[in-house]
Amino acid sequence: MCGIVGYAGPQAASPQAPSSRPLDVVLQGLARLEYRGYDSAGIAVVDEQVRVTKRSGKLKNLREALEATDTDARQTADARQTADAGQTTGAEQVADTGAGMAADTRARQAAGAGQVADAATKQALGTTHGGVAIGHTRWATHGAPTDTNAHPHRGGRDGELAVVHNGIIENFAQLRADLAADGFVFVSETDSEVAAHLLAREVEQTGDLTEAMRATTARLEGAFTLLAVHRDQPGTVVAARRNSPLVVGLGEGENFLGSDVAAFVDSTKEALEIDQDQIVTVTADSVRVIETDGTEVPDPKRFRIEWDVAAAQKGGYPSFMAKEIHEQAGALADTLLGRLVDGTLQLDERDIDESVLRSIDKIVVIACGTAANAGAVVKYAIEHWCRIPVEVELAHEFRYRDPVVTEKTLVVAISQSGETMDTLMAVRHAREQGAKVIAICNTRGSTIPREADAALYLYVGPEIAVASTKAYLGQIAACYLLGLYLAQVRGNLFPEEIAEIMEDLQSIPEKIQRVLDDSAQVEQLAQSMQDATSVLFLGRHVGYPTAMEGALKLKEIAYIHAEGFAAGELKHGPIALIEEGQPVFVIVPSPRGRDVLHSKLISNIQEIRARGARTLVIAEEGDEDVLPYADEVIRVPATRTLFAALLTVIPLQIFACELATAKGLDVDQPRNLAKSVTVE
Ligand code: F6R
Repeated sequence: MCGIVGYAGPQAASPQAPSSRPLDVVLQGLARLEYRGYDSAGIAVVDEQVRVTKRSGKLKNLREALEATDTDARQTADARQTADAGQTTGAEQVADTGAGMAADTRARQAAGAGQVADAATKQALGTTHGGVAIGHTRWATHGAPTDTNAHPHRGGRDGELAVVHNGIIENFAQLRADLAADGFVFVSETDSEVAAHLLAREVEQTGDLTEAMRATTARLEGAFTLLAVHRDQPGTVVAARRNSPLVVGLGEGENFLGSDVAAFVDSTKEALEIDQDQIVTVTADSVRVIETDGTEVPDPKRFRIEWDVAAAQKGGYPSFMAKEIHEQAGALADTLLGRLVDGTLQLDERDIDESVLRSIDKIVVIACGTAANAGAVVKYAIEHWCRIPVEVELAHEFRYRDPVVTEKTLVVAISQSGETMDTLMAVRHAREQGAKVIAICNTRGSTIPREADAALYLYVGPEIAVASTKAYLGQIAACYLLGLYLAQVRGNLFPEEIAEIMEDLQSIPEKIQRVLDDSAQVEQLAQSMQDATSVLFLGRHVGYPTAMEGALKLKEIAYIHAEGFAAGELKHGPIALIEEGQPVFVIVPSPRGRDVLHSKLISNIQEIRARGARTLVIAEEGDEDVLPYADEVIRVPATRTLFAALLTVIPLQIFACELATAKGLDVDQPRNLAKSVTVE
């Protein structure tokens, strides 16, 4: 949660020729990271002083504030007004310049008296002759989403430093008391402000921001990515991370920092991974990484960003979610691309001996939310192909019970972002118990694959909408590849069988495209159901997690009560919910192959229809058996039962997206959510 961007570029040759690049880079980066949190946004730019602007709400509020300041500043300059220090203007002041940040001014800010700017230093924030800037988009934890609690936070007796923070500082209360006793004035309710003052106090003592960061991180407990700028080191951004993400982008004559590579993907494709408890000092032409004990990291891991800028833009669709749904055929083809080399399946990064994979006696899949639904789908496939028991568990539940995990357990951690804290903590716990961990992940350079023993990437491109769609398909497909890989290593399947299954898997992208091309029916259905207050979803086998996923999508973006059930479970309780007109999506398995599943589900449809349900049936092309019991039939192409999960979920994704759009909701940034959940 929270998106962080930093930039260090050349300083202007003179104050008369300022540049808007630092601000532009940070605002563009924040726009691409807004999916990580949208409770507030703010930036700090540095020239002779640190200038902070921040606003509660979405990034557009910050942009408006900056534009207002800009206009105001130009008018001020045109009128050649001589400003008095401490003067406030009639118009709402949006720039907190920090100059002469006296305690009483801070106290007024804290009391919500409005943001007071020192008119003497008021100037266009759109340009600066300094070369650095930092920015933040927030998902609130400590403190309400107000202007005051927005980041950056100032530190120091004179507001000479600014900090942005992602994570939670667990010992902030004690640190705050200590700093307050030392005369530091707190204006916000956040835990982050202690990091700002701690850093400022350390700079007072050491005179150096990097040293100050070392000393500060030694005192902080919890999770953090911190970016700091200081008035007295105007060309430098110093950052540190523990249990929170941070990557560096390497430019020509400029460098970047971000919570993930989306922050700077339009400026550079070269990036560095920053490891746990490392500190990085970035200027326009240097990047220095050290451990918190001060030792140099001579060779930080460099990687190339595969995503392009177009992938991080809407491309004519009304929302990122709509775009991401509609690019699933190509995305899945990319997941599958180049995996069979000389008839042998390949992982991306692997440090697990094949003899270890042959000896495992259990697989535990850990994940959260949509990724956990993907895990629930692939359990059916891996057990079927590899004959190993597969448990699927929500990562936060796994971590805080006492799970039976041994050296013979293979843990599969599924995470689009690679940063979900619940999953990360479960990964660490599993490794401590001696288990090997394979990460199924979309984001290169993220923490979970870095801490795992092996990684398999999705290659579906950046997923910007908060609700996961294309990553879900990528996760299922990647786990199928993993299942086939294990079957290959352990000798459960003959090479010809693997090749045949792979051939069917390779045919799925084209079938996905057919489902997408036929989406008009579902779109109309969604538009006609804007007033629905409850929708149920039923399935068996891989249709069961598909039902869960359909319900999750509808809940999270359309705010409609929705539940997914195993169809067989219905008569054990949930059927009591069925009343006249209750809409129920039913995911019907293929009538070929596992006949028993199909006929059981037909019985379940009859049971709910007899009680008044409105049945919205997703069934294979040519399945006539469903017709007498369906109020509406949505067709998907025929495929193996196991692979149907890659098709039947798509109408459900489209339904949720279209319904939320029709209701006028913000599809990409649903309330209370964030894309990357980096707190437990
Ligand atoms: C739902 C959704 C979330 C995520 C979950 C895990 O649409 O996106 O449920 O699936 O927060 O996120 P990752 O996959 O990044 O670990």
